[in-house]
Amino acid sequence: MNNFALQGVQLTKQYGGFHVLHGINFSVPKGEIRGLIGPNGAGKSTLVDVLSGRTANYQGSVFLDGKEINGCSAQERRKLGLARSFQRTSIFHSRTVEDQLELASRWETESNVDEVMGHLDLVSYRDEVAAELSYGVQRRLDLALALIGKPQVLLLDEPAAGLTMQESISMAQLLRDLVKRWKITVLLIEHDMDVVFTVCDQITVLNLGQILIEGSVEVVRSSPLVISAYLGRNAE
Ligand SMILES: Nc1ncnc2c1ncn2[C@@H]1O[C@H](COP(=O)(O)OP(=O)(O)OP(=O)(O)O)[C@@H](O)[C@H]1O
Ligand SMILES: [Mg+2]
Repeated sequence: MNNFALQGVQLTKQYGGFHVLHGINFSVPKGEIRGLIGPNGAGKSTLVDVLSGRTANYQGSVFLDGKEINGCSAQERRKLGLARSFQRTSIFHSRTVEDQLELASRWETESNVDEVMGHLDLVSYRDEVAAELSYGVQRRLDLALALIGKPQVLLLDEPAAGLTMQESISMAQLLRDLVKRWKITVLLIEHDMDVVFTVCDQITVLNLGQILIEGSVEVVRSSPLVISAYLGRNAE
């Protein structure tokens, strides 16, 4: 039996001859929340683009539940149960909360709009147009859109970006609750270390397009490699 929800084998991506990802190998066991961290420009969003099929032009292989999905488009990957959110929100500002969630669920066999709205505390905003919502609620809507259809694997690119510390932690707790209940596997890009250390089971650290270290919160937190990668960035 295959125990990995998501695997990348020798993933390599270049932009104009420059290696943004360089032979990335990783495996995320089913049900795990995996943190993906690293300094700005490390290649985190690019890795999510490769995994989600947003960019087709890469080398190596992506496996979803043991099945190679290299030949699948982003839409096909989503249908197979691989969903993602974007670093910048992808909501439609002119539509109501419920409208957007219903729209997203049109292609799903079973609608879980009410359940997702309930869980992300969006019920009282259902008839509001997204542009009128506070930024924090917009980010919850963004997360809700990715959760429509109960994906097997969720790739989240800084879902808490721009939120206050308190909002970030409470979003992280909501997320953890829900994915553990639904047994979703998550790859979470997040800059805030408090959030990462609170919510993730294991962490992969990317630097300059390569994996620097991978392991538990304790291993990553105390790694001199990680400390120097981040100090390098801070010292700029
Ligand atoms: N479309 C593109 N064309 C050329 N270079 C790109 C493109 N997208 C990303 N890059 C480069 O690839 C590298 C990795 O970028 P990426 O956005 O994946 O990093 P990141 O780890 O997500 O950073 P951040 O923490 O700032 O979001 C950077 O050097 C970036 O300039
Ligand atoms: Mg990024």
